[in-house]
Amino acid sequence: MIQGINDDREVYLNGEFLPLSQAKISVLDRGFIFGDGIYEVVPAYKGKPFRLDEHVARLMRSLSKIKLETGKTAEDWKALMKAMIDRSDYENTFVYLQVTRGVAKRDHAFPRPAVAPTIFMIASPFDRPSEHYREDGLRTVSMEDVRWLHCDIKSVSLLGNVLAKEYALEREVDDVIQFRDGYLSEASSANIWVVKGGKLLAPVRDNLILEGIRYGFIEELAKKVGVPFEARKISKEEVAQADEIMFTSATKEILPITEHDGKAVNGGKPGPVYRQLRQAYDEVIEQL
Ligand code: PDD
Repeated sequence: MIQGINDDREVYLNGEFLPLSQAKISVLDRGFIFGDGIYEVVPAYKGKPFRLDEHVARLMRSLSKIKLETGKTAEDWKALMKAMIDRSDYENTFVYLQVTRGVAKRDHAFPRPAVAPTIFMIASPFDRPSEHYREDGLRTVSMEDVRWLHCDIKSVSLLGNVLAKEYALEREVDDVIQFRDGYLSEASSANIWVVKGGKLLAPVRDNLILEGIRYGFIEELAKKVGVPFEARKISKEEVAQADEIMFTSATKEILPITEHDGKAVNGGKPGPVYRQLRQAYDEVIEQL
């Protein structure tokens, strides 16, 4: 058994659904050897995928940015993910999908001719954030962002993100807030939002952050509840003095950060903008 997975759930590998214990790939897979692949994480509520079009569009952007041709269309990817969700009967599911450049002799150059990509999917249950997280929030520490300059690609080469998460856990907090050259980028696996004087701020969607699917969604919710939004460079000082700080990702949805670098944010309580966005988020999910 695999640590943390004590069932033999059905997964998808290269065209078939099969038990996890039977899903095997070669040690020469370029995902294993080089981290040469990309992934997606798609949440589904009561069997309904959330923002699937946007997730598939980002998947196809990642594939195109690493020049990985799969021959699959957006419709093909959507059908695959829906099939995975339909086969799982969790209340809330997230699908992890990974595509690598396939199996070939170890050589940095892409295989020529190209080989079949490895396509893997696993569905797992997730709990929507508990009252504890919604009310007590998360604690974070600052960290220099030392990752590469293509953070916009949802690459499986996540060593920088893994070490960032570990940096936080060693300091007994939930996550890091990373800064590059003094400006906010993101957490180890989530986007960060800041409120200053009633305005919601987020870093610009460039190569220095992964554009979360929640990014566009929160922007829409901010408009809906009447909170002005601006994407711009945000300095470390602005984060230190923020009225509110928030965290978004597929499974954590939106959560308040109530302590950063040992200092309470908004008196250690979720702030008013968080509450508005959280309520609007819940309403959308409940109406799915
Ligand atoms: N992580 N930034 C990074 C570096 C991320 O890894 C993620 C998501 C996000 C938020 O993206 P989204 O809103 O689409 O979840 C931002 C996923 C959940 C993961 O790696 O498991």
